[in-house]
This record gives sequence, C-alpha cells and structure tokens, in this order.
Amino acid sequence: MDHHIEDYIQEIKTRINIVDFIGKYVSLRKAGQNFVGLCPFHVEKTPSFTVNPRKEIFYCFGCHTGGDIIHFVEKFEGLTFQEAVEELGKNAGLEPPKWGHRRSDSQYNPWFEFLETCSQYFQKNMNQHPEAQAYLQKRGIHASTIATFQIGFAPPDPKDFISFFTKLGFQKEDAKTLGLVREKDDGYTYPYFRNRVVFPILDLRKRVIGFGGRAIDQEQMPKYLNSPDYPLFHKGENLYALSLARSSMNREKSAILVEGYMDVISLYQHGITNVTASLGTAFTLEQAKLLRKYSDTLYICYDADEAGKKAILRSIDIVLPMGFPCRVIQIPKPYKDPDDFIIAKGKEAFLHQMKTAKGALEYCWEALTEGKNLQDPITASAVVESIFRRFMKVKDPVRIESLLKQISLDIKIKPSLLEERLYSMSRGSLSGRRKTNSKRSKQDSETIIDERDATLVLKAMITHPKDWAGIIFTKLHKEDFPTGIFRDLFTEFYELFQEKKSIQVENFQEDPDKEIFYSKLMELQNMNNKCIEGDVIPQILCHVDAVRKKKNILIPLQERVNKAELEGNFEESKRLRVEILRISREEY
Ligand code: CTP
Ligand code: MN
Repeated sequence: MDHHIEDYIQEIKTRINIVDFIGKYVSLRKAGQNFVGLCPFHVEKTPSFTVNPRKEIFYCFGCHTGGDIIHFVEKFEGLTFQEAVEELGKNAGLEPPKWGHRRSDSQYNPWFEFLETCSQYFQKNMNQHPEAQAYLQKRGIHASTIATFQIGFAPPDPKDFISFFTKLGFQKEDAKTLGLVREKDDGYTYPYFRNRVVFPILDLRKRVIGFGGRAIDQEQMPKYLNSPDYPLFHKGENLYALSLARSSMNREKSAILVEGYMDVISLYQHGITNVTASLGTAFTLEQAKLLRKYSDTLYICYDADEAGKKAILRSIDIVLPMGFPCRVIQIPKPYKDPDDFIIAKGKEAFLHQMKTAKGALEYCWEALTEGKNLQDPITASAVVESIFRRFMKVKDPVRIESLLKQISLDIKIKPSLLEERLYSMSRGSLSGRRKTNSKRSKQDSETIIDERDATLVLKAMITHPKDWAGIIFTKLHKEDFPTGIFRDLFTEFYELFQEKKSIQVENFQEDPDKEIFYSKLMELQNMNNKCIEGDVIPQILCHVDAVRKKKNILIPLQERVNKAELEGNFEESKRLRVEILRISREEY
C-alpha cells in the first residue's frame, strides 16, 4: 500500500472513534477495557462481539471476525477495501483518496481487459441499434437501467465483431477460450452472441467476467445463451449483479434469489435492489455461501410453474443444511415470474408477497402434498418420508416442532408417533449415509461417528455431564470422531475429564488458546435439549457397538476372501462372500 493511503487511513482513525462508529450499528456496553455487544456478523444470543478502543479494533469470539474500522465497513456494508476507505474518508470529512494508477494486482489477467472491451463494444452497439432499444423498451426497461446494468447488444452481422477485436490486438484464440467466437470445421470463425441483448456478468470488483445473451426475435433459438466456464468464470461460483446488490443485501439483511437476468433487472428497477440470480445453471452451495455473507435470510422467488417449483425444492435442499434461514416468495396467478408480476402490480404488491412469504419447510410441506390424498396411508407415508428427510438437515428443533403439529393435523396422526418416526429415521439414515457419502475424505469415511452423531454426543456431555461423560468415554475414542473441531473438542473434553475438571463452557471461555472452541460450544449450548432426550444417545452407542462388531468380523472375513481368491480357491471365496453379505444385511 502506498504511503498516501496509509496516511489517509491513519487520518480516518484519528478522526473517527471506533466505539462511536460501530456503536451506531451495534448496541455496545462497557466491559472492562473493551465494549461488548451482539455480533452483527452472525446470529447469537449472548454477546461475543468486542471493540477495543485502545487498539482501535473489533473482534468476535463467536465467529472470529475482526479487524480495524475499515474491515468493519467492508464486512458490514459489503464493500471492497477501496470502497470502504472512500466511504469512511467521506464520513471523516476528508477529500477522496488518490489511488495509484494501476493497483499492484497480482491477479491481473489480460482476459479482463478483453472482456471489458467486448462489453463496451456491445454497449456501443446498443446505442446504434434501435431494434435492441425497442425490445428493451417493450419490456419496460428504462435507459437508466440499461446504463446501470451495462446492457449491450450483439448485432446480427457476424463480420464486424471479429475485425473489431483483432484490430485492437486481441487474439482469436483467446476469443475462442472465452466463448466469444466459435470456429467451424472449415476454420470459419463467427461470433457466439448474435442479434442478442447482452448482459455482462461482473465479479465483486465490477470486472466483466462473462456474458448472458437474450434473443430479441421470438423465433430465435435458444432464448438465452451464456458464456461457457473458463478460469476467470465459473457460473456456479458467481451470481448475477451481486456487485450491485450486496450493499442493500447488507442493509436489508436479506437477499432475494430469482431465476433470470430479466427478473433481477426488473425488480431492481422497481426499487427492490437486494436481488440476484444464478447464471443459467442451478443454484449451488458456493452461491449460497456467498449470499450468506451478506444476508440473514434468503428469499427464493422463482417462476410460478412446475419447473420453478422443482427448482425451489432443490435450492432449499442446498440452504437447509447450512442453517441459512430461507423463505419462499410465491408469485400469484396469473403471473409467471417476478418480472411480469412487478410490472403488473408494482413494488408494494411484491413487498406484500415478501412479507407473507412462507418458511422453507412449510413451503416444502405444501409443495409435496399439493393435490395429494393424504388420507391414503401409502401417499401420506411417502410425503412424510420426504419432508422428514429435510427435517433431518435442520439444526434447530424448534422450527420442526410447529410444523410437526401441522403435519399431524393434515394426515391425522398423533404428533408423538410422528416424532418417533422422525427420530428412528434420523438414526437409520446415519448408517446409510455413512456408506454413500462420497464427499467425505478418505480418513473420515473410517470414523464411526458422523457429524450429526458427534454433535449430539458432545451436546449430551455438556448438558448432562454426570449422566453421560463416563459412559461415553468408555465407549468412544477420539479416533471415532470426524477430524477437525469435533475430534478436537472431544479430546479437550477427555482431558478435562481425566483431570477431574467439569466439562463446562466456562472452562474454555477464559483460555485464549481455546477460543476456537468457543463458537462451537455456544452452538451446542444453544441447541434445544430435546435433541438428546429419550434414547437418542443410547441408540448412538448401540450403533457404535454394532459397527465395531461388524468391523471386527467383516474385515477379517474380507481378508480371507482375498486370500482364497489369490490361491484360486473360488469355492471358499464364494462361501465367504455369502457370509459377508449375510452379516452386512443383519439389522442392528
Ligand atoms: N436460461 C438459459 N437458457 C435458456 C433459458 C433460460 O440459460 N435456454 C436461463 C437464463 O439465465 C434466464 C433464466 O434461465 O435468465 C430464466 O429463464 P426463463 O424463465 O425462461 O426466462 P425469463 O427470465 O423469464 O426470460 P424472459 O423474461 O426474457 O423470457
Ligand atoms: Mn420472464
């Protein structure tokens, strides 16, 4: 960083008191040298967010977010470093800072320049093609919105584009890699986007990384084209217009996810600016994580058709296990998507739909049962199975409880029976999941306890240490736990136990070396105790016994199979295989 910027930041810090500043966003109270409050960067019930006025920094012991006042603004407002410095400078009454010409940018890549140049070419063509402007006008898009989203036009004539970029010194080979041109077998090269409105896709630093193109003639197929993936551009890791939307996502603490480019643009133009879309592909976990950074609630608002409904269920399945609170905004008939709804009914009507949006699980239940005869036991059992599979991914039992009542009313079965079914399913699934979950690392696939079991076991130990610690430590070893936080915590607990100290959150709180455990412990403490009631823990221990027994019998058996086959003793190997099959199928 050059001296000017360093001095500039120093001047900001001299002029702005960090406690006063953060105090505008977070209610702080004095605690010793520091100030404490509820962390604005994660959901918590007890304050673990601290501001240290002497060091001019903040730090959260829960989510480990910390830094100086610039970091705070970056995180809180969803701004880049540069933007945050500029914002704070303004706030401190300073002239805007002078940034160096080109930041020493190790990630500089000439493709950015190429893509930016193309985007400008498309924008220039938008100005020169009345038919493109007419198309957007017909769809209600204002000139100012065209400018905001830098919407361009790829002309129908294939000649102009290639000569344009070759004259500027860009290579055909690069254009091919970036999906801007295609080459036929005979070497004839032509532009990929033709006669299309072009939506540039920007990264968070507002650099063009790809394009989407909408046909402007009705008969033109396909309706949409997208840049292919290449090293600068991974559709599954970026979101449309996120650089425009993220500051209002931060402010509103919510993000609205829609299906298409036009839905984003239309909502944005109507003043709903915390909106984004995936890029012509299904919503991914990476995208969900990105949105989680800027928002506390995700609102999904997809098309009102059957495909939209399926896509909503898929997206919900991605965010549920993350613990990302999610709601579904429904588009009422006869409208087909957020774009035509807001054009017809306006912003207030959309906000009303948003206010009355259903919780993700409630939506799932309704979507799964729609048009089904729930008095038919086979149908009822199938939909219950399907919704319970989703329940098992939810960490907060309170959310499940109210819906269980609803389900029990709908299918006329006692809630207690449903609960039993749910618990037995979640136990059953553990062994099943363990075998099929290919995402686990090799090392972890060996552990008997998966993350869900581990959570429950640790929860039991901190909630009722007298009841559980002894028996759990005789039955389980640290190697049984998934590596990482679970295994580390279990090891810590074991040490406390051996030193005859009690297993208490407080024992970790004071020790700076053990800070990393603090947020997990808070999470465990905040979980509803119901999740470890009844025979949940005995069942897990039973399961552990069974797996050990199997391991001790099955692995030696498999070794005998291998040996028999090596020796050509196929009779013996066949007999052993049948034996293995029998034992593996045994219920336990
Ligand atoms: N899409 C795509 N390829 C297609 C059709 C759709 O990649 N052949 C993607 C685009 O990203 C598009 C989104 O899916 O924005 C939603 O598609 P759709 O619902 O068909 O289009 P709308 O957004 O309603 O588009 P329009 O209003 O322009 O018809
Ligand atoms: Mn549409």
